[in-house]
Amino acid sequence: MPNFLFRTIPADRLLLDAERSGHSLKRTLTAVDLTALGIGAIIGAGIFATTGSAVAGTLERPGAGPALMLSYLLTAVACGFCALCYAEFASMIPISGSAYTYAYATLGELVAWIIGWDLIIEYAIGNVAVAVSWSGYFKELLRGFGVDLPGWLTTDYRTAHQSAEILANAPRLGSIPVVMNLPAMLVVGAITIVLVIGIKESARLNAVMVFIKLSVVLGFIAVGAFYVQPANWRPFAPNGWTGIATGAALIFFAYIGFDAISTTAEEACNPQRDMPVGMIASLAICTVLYVLITAVLTGIVPYRQLGTAEPLATALNAVHLDWAAGFVAFGAVVSMTAVLLVFQLGQPRIFFVMSRDGLLPKGFSAVHPRFRTPHVTTILTGVFVATFAGFMDINEAVELTNIGTLFAFVLVGIGVIILRVREPARPRPFRCPWVPWVPLLGIASCAYLMAQLPWMTWVRFVIWLFLGLMIYFLYGAKRSSLAKFRPPDLAR
Ligand code: ALA
Repeated sequence: MPNFLFRTIPADRLLLDAERSGHSLKRTLTAVDLTALGIGAIIGAGIFATTGSAVAGTLERPGAGPALMLSYLLTAVACGFCALCYAEFASMIPISGSAYTYAYATLGELVAWIIGWDLIIEYAIGNVAVAVSWSGYFKELLRGFGVDLPGWLTTDYRTAHQSAEILANAPRLGSIPVVMNLPAMLVVGAITIVLVIGIKESARLNAVMVFIKLSVVLGFIAVGAFYVQPANWRPFAPNGWTGIATGAALIFFAYIGFDAISTTAEEACNPQRDMPVGMIASLAICTVLYVLITAVLTGIVPYRQLGTAEPLATALNAVHLDWAAGFVAFGAVVSMTAVLLVFQLGQPRIFFVMSRDGLLPKGFSAVHPRFRTPHVTTILTGVFVATFAGFMDINEAVELTNIGTLFAFVLVGIGVIILRVREPARPRPFRCPWVPWVPLLGIASCAYLMAQLPWMTWVRFVIWLFLGLMIYFLYGAKRSSLAKFRPPDLAR
């Protein structure tokens, strides 16, 4: 193997580069902002939509039943191990690139590129799933106000093919029916505009949305608790461990987001202290809420009735709390808007750092002269996500996002162990406890969850990685700033 594949950028060098590049971002985010960004990214389509099929099961996978509470706890523990690893890196190398940057400092350029490429799945494809789910709840909300959007304008091509009615009503271009998810595309477009205007403004908007989402979630728990019938919790685990494990691999999606905080490291006032606080606090708060929501949800109606795209509303409707179901639909739309915001914010920052390192074209790290935001990559991400959101199926997007994110978590765990061995004396404002055991447990639990995902998801994932490798060898390997500008002693 050629040596350049393993060249790393020393962590000090990364920090210096970020300062000197003239491409620096505004530092305005506090610990509370970061925790709110975390909650903003975490609570969304996962709890509001994916929970339904995870509880009730589908034709292909067994449901966890009320034991999905355990799935939520198990996945939280796996994410907790990974959050501790992320926190060590984020406090030590507070650079916007997240896992990509950590890999560059530890595992070498090739793995860094693979992670950067892989993170596109987590951020951009993840947001495709959220935008599609957003569109579904938005449609429900509008229906409550008497506005009924046509099916061909609110779904993807593949789903439409399962409904003769949607296809029959769709307008035609020649013989081809026109089908697209327009609300999903429009919401991504609107968020892109907000993000180009500025990070502080978007942090403020996020804080308002987080407040609304927490109110709705707490409201659901408080009101729903009065309708819980413990008999509905039996059988607790109808499909035993298989149901719990496959449920865990699916609802992993609900936790994705705590790591997204690390992409704003260059905009945090005090990243060394606030990054770990933001990640761990947001993860802990969401875990408690998820377990409570699942307990209440499965206590209100028998779990088999919950296999819908909007399970929380389904449960409330079943006990004739229609007003509360409308309130939840509103909360879901707001919650998912917040998720979209954080991920649309994170993706461009990863591209931004990759471009600064020469692995992507230099134009990607342009900062807007007035707004000081990475506008080129923000707009590019917006166009990419909006296009796929208009035409992609939600389940494919969720599973692909999960596998990609779990893979990134595995590599971050490996990176923590390697850097402890290679640079034991480096100051670590936050230290992951019990290294190597905590990272090893994180790696093992993520690998286990990956193994629960369907083989087709694996195939898509491998194709994506292969595509990434081709781009690296044709472009990044030659243009990397380590290849071009650095004397050999800096490219270890
Ligand atoms: N955790 C985020 C959600 O559930 C991705 O929407």
